[in-house]
Parts: sequence; C-alpha cells; structure tokens
Amino acid sequence: MKMYGFSGSSSANSGAKKVTVPDLRARKTSGEKIAMVTAYDYTMARLVDEAGVDMVLVGDSLGMVVQGLTTTIPVTMDEMAYHCRAVARGLGRAHLVGDLPFMSYQVSPQQAVESAGKLMKEGACESIKLEGGQEVVEHVHRIVRAGIPVVGHIGLTPQSVHALGGFKVQGRGHDGAEKVLADAVALEQAGAFSIVLEAIPPDLAAQVTALVSIPTIGIGAGAGCDGQVLVCTDLLGLSRGHQPKFAKRFANLGDAAVEAIGAYVSEVRAGTFPGAGQTYKPNAAGAGSVTVGPLLSHRAREAALSADELDAPLALDLWH
Ligand code: KIV
Repeated sequence: MKMYGFSGSSSANSGAKKVTVPDLRARKTSGEKIAMVTAYDYTMARLVDEAGVDMVLVGDSLGMVVQGLTTTIPVTMDEMAYHCRAVARGLGRAHLVGDLPFMSYQVSPQQAVESAGKLMKEGACESIKLEGGQEVVEHVHRIVRAGIPVVGHIGLTPQSVHALGGFKVQGRGHDGAEKVLADAVALEQAGAFSIVLEAIPPDLAAQVTALVSIPTIGIGAGAGCDGQVLVCTDLLGLSRGHQPKFAKRFANLGDAAVEAIGAYVSEVRAGTFPGAGQTYKPNAAGAGSVTVGPLLSHRAREAALSADELDAPLALDLWH
C-alpha cells in the first residue's frame, strides 16, 4: 500500500504523466509558458490538477490564506508538511513544490538540507522553494547536492516583510535592479532549477528572464517571465478584503459561495432541506416501533439498573 497518493491514485489525473523537473527546465527553450498555482488541501489540489496547471505550490502563504494571519512568519514546518501531504494526494500530473517556512533554513545550510528533506519525506513534495538570493546560495547548493530540486524566490520575499518595511515592490532604481539581477544569477549558479520573481518591475523581470537559463515564474512581475504563479483563492475570487494589484480574479467564487450558503440557511430555516432527494428510505413497513431495551449496552444497563428503570424500556418510534 502506498503511503501517499504520490502516483495520483486518488486524483482526477491518475493516469497522467507527471510533470518533472527536466520537463520544466525544457520550457525555457521550448517557450511554452509554465502555469503554477498555490493549493493548500486535497480538494483544491484535485481541481487545479484537473485544470492542467504544471506546478502546484503549497506556499507558506497558507499562513495568511488558511490560518488568517497577517504575515507568513509564524508558519511552521509541521504545518507545511501537513498541507503538502494533503495536496500531494490530489495531484496526478502537476509537479508539487513545498515552501520552506521562516527560520526553517536561514540558520545554516545544514538546517536547510534537513528541512528540505522533511518536506520531501513527510510532505511528499517533489521540490522545495525558499526565499532569498545571494545570502542563501550555500543553502541552495547543499540542498541540490542532496538530490532535492530547488525553486528560488527573489524580489519581494514576504518572510522579510519587516526588513523590507512592508509588502512593497522591489528592484526599483539602479541598486535595487542590480541586486535582483545578481540574486538571480547566484541562484542559477547554486543549482536552482527555477526562480519565482515577486513584485518587481516588468522590464527588470524580462531582463532577469533573458539573463538566466532556468525558467522564471512571475507574480506581479509582468508578462515577460517564463511562467506565472497566483494564489488559488485570489485567482478564484474566494479572498475577501485587500487584493494585491497583480491578483487577477478569473472567477467570483466567493460571492457564489455566500449565495449558496445563504440559500442553504434559508432552506434549513424553512424546513425544506433535506427534501425527499436527500433522505434515506424509511424502514420497511412493519418495522414499527423499535424497543431499545435489549440493545442497551452493559454500562447503560447498569445505569438503568441502578436507577431501577429496567422494567420500563424505551420505545423509539424511528419512522412513521
Ligand atoms: O507562499 C506563496 O504562496 C508564494 C507565492 C506567492 C509565490 O510564495
């Protein structure tokens, strides 16, 4: 028996060929854009896989999307592994990337290898993503040497939100742009197979994309990247409250959900749900009233005995 639905045995795409790291690298030359989306549970994983995305990211954005936090900083390794496992069971085709959360890799290259290994073993991930550029090259190098594919993430790195002074566009001005370019080159040299570019000017993202020989995946980085990633709840219009400028809603499922749940509430209150279609057949005629007395558990019997009630067994009229 397989421990996880790793081969997609319980996914809609169970017969499909898995998207591999070499497939994704090859997109750089073929020019076919990479479509990536986040997912945090089995149900969403099945849907995004069925829709044909190439990569699914279990982002530490789950802190904000699933847990209702204001930053990704408190997310733990155990939480990431739990959500990755659930998502892995729903994927038949898409490549699964797990995010290393804050302080699970920054401490040392050794800590980074151990955390990456945990997400691969316990989360059934096929690669990991971590934030940072030149400062994490040794970490990336060591993880790659351990046989774990790495996706880099530069530009706006949400785990550094306090150092950056907020969720702000990065790579502005000569120095900002130079840093993003140097970070991208450093990640490629360290062995990353792809790089997420978040919230940087589109001309800079296009320059990075032309400079490196691995695919870039943009979020708020314009159309000149080799692929795009969006948070699933933003894409589906499930998110309430503030939306980042780059988050296009391809549907309005949040409003549809509120409407559907409201209809359910009304039917429950009116007594029209459940109807005949949602109700099991009654017991056969003649089953009549069922005497529970002989079925009482030992403890219930004792309780009844002590209450001196055994002579008056309950009669439950289950179906009329
Ligand atoms: O955590 C996340 O969802 C991400 C994407 C926004 C790239 O890092």
